[in-house]
Amino acid sequence: MLTNRQLFLLHLGQTSSTPLMLEIEKAEGVFMYGPEGRKYLDLVSGVSVSNTGHRHPKVVEAVKKQVDSYLHLMVYGEMIQSPQVKYAEKLSSLLPQQLSSIYFVNSGSEAVEGALKLAKRFTGRSRIIYFSNAYHGSTSAALSVQGSEKYRNAFRPLMPGTVQIGFNDFDTLDAIDDHTACVIIEPVQAEAGVILPHEGYLDLIRERCTMHGALLIFDEVQTGFGRTGKMFAIDRYGVVPDILVLAKALGGGMPLGAFISSVEIMSSLISNPQLGHITTFGGHPVCCAAGLASLEIIIEEKLLESCESKSSLFKKGLDHPAIESIRGEGLLLAVQLRNREQVGKVIAHAAAYGLVLDYFLFCDDAFRIAPPLVISDDEIKYACKQLLSLLDDTK
Ligand SMILES: Cc1ncc(COP(=O)(O)O)c(C=O)c1O
Repeated sequence: MLTNRQLFLLHLGQTSSTPLMLEIEKAEGVFMYGPEGRKYLDLVSGVSVSNTGHRHPKVVEAVKKQVDSYLHLMVYGEMIQSPQVKYAEKLSSLLPQQLSSIYFVNSGSEAVEGALKLAKRFTGRSRIIYFSNAYHGSTSAALSVQGSEKYRNAFRPLMPGTVQIGFNDFDTLDAIDDHTACVIIEPVQAEAGVILPHEGYLDLIRERCTMHGALLIFDEVQTGFGRTGKMFAIDRYGVVPDILVLAKALGGGMPLGAFISSVEIMSSLISNPQLGHITTFGGHPVCCAAGLASLEIIIEEKLLESCESKSSLFKKGLDHPAIESIRGEGLLLAVQLRNREQVGKVIAHAAAYGLVLDYFLFCDDAFRIAPPLVISDDEIKYACKQLLSLLDDTK
């Protein structure tokens, strides 16, 4: 009989020649458990998804409760489903007033698609500005605003009318003009290796968008739900976009995305044509119930308040000659090593040290630290101890 490992390689579509290949049987809190009692501390959170940890009891309870009521009822937007309504109300209470109309979809990429379509539809323009080393997903429109050729060149032709400018390059912002439908930006670039915006950069982009009637889209798929120590990067930088894109932690471990705007902007999907964006499963009731429970946990357990001190504990604990620097805010950190070979070795051997680590898409010489926000100080100290031994042994 074939093992799960063999069946994985045989029957699951593969996208990498070096998948992590960890077999996991159970996950709880910050730990994942494999066969024969192997235990791994999760320093990735499924890439910024499991902010409240794996299988938080309140999330599990909300999922079970919703499963007992109903699953899928009808395509998005037709029936009044209380998990969607309650979650939308809660989200809008935490966002700036104008971000009150929430369109739930299935994933980050679909939310990006929806946001770009909405901006085109509302402005009647088609030019889209995006940034070097930006990552917004893997569907065709999202690839068209990906700021690296590496993963997209093979899929040309892409969507026309997109213009790339340098992230943090103040001098190229005059590309935002009267023909611009929208500017799409990650306020903190995640897959670029956690690149923070320079002071005043997001404000200036906001100013130019307003001046030229272009919409500003913030992609907070990774930065949302406390990842950088504030509920959203909007709160950290004090800049309010016209459209906000969320996913990953939005679903509390279930698949969910959203694009959010004012009622006025969102209403442009109602006519000419009506049904401006359609999704069958978007805002699935079980996903909304899980997401709302997870958001309530972030608030009730005051996870934002401890994020900065946890971040400092990592930065202090990871004092090692192999580490050139540690970048980032909150629990979205990039640990910069000397070169990509060293990063490759560290990630390949992490499991043997009881850790789950991962790469960034566009930053070869750093690895990410983005654990569930519920990680305790003792667990951080343990993670640092294991990481230091791993770095000692992979020189
Ligand atoms: C900033 C950002 N936007 C969008 C996406 C796409 O999300 P999804 O993988 O859910 O389609 C990602 C995924 O990593 C992301 O990091």
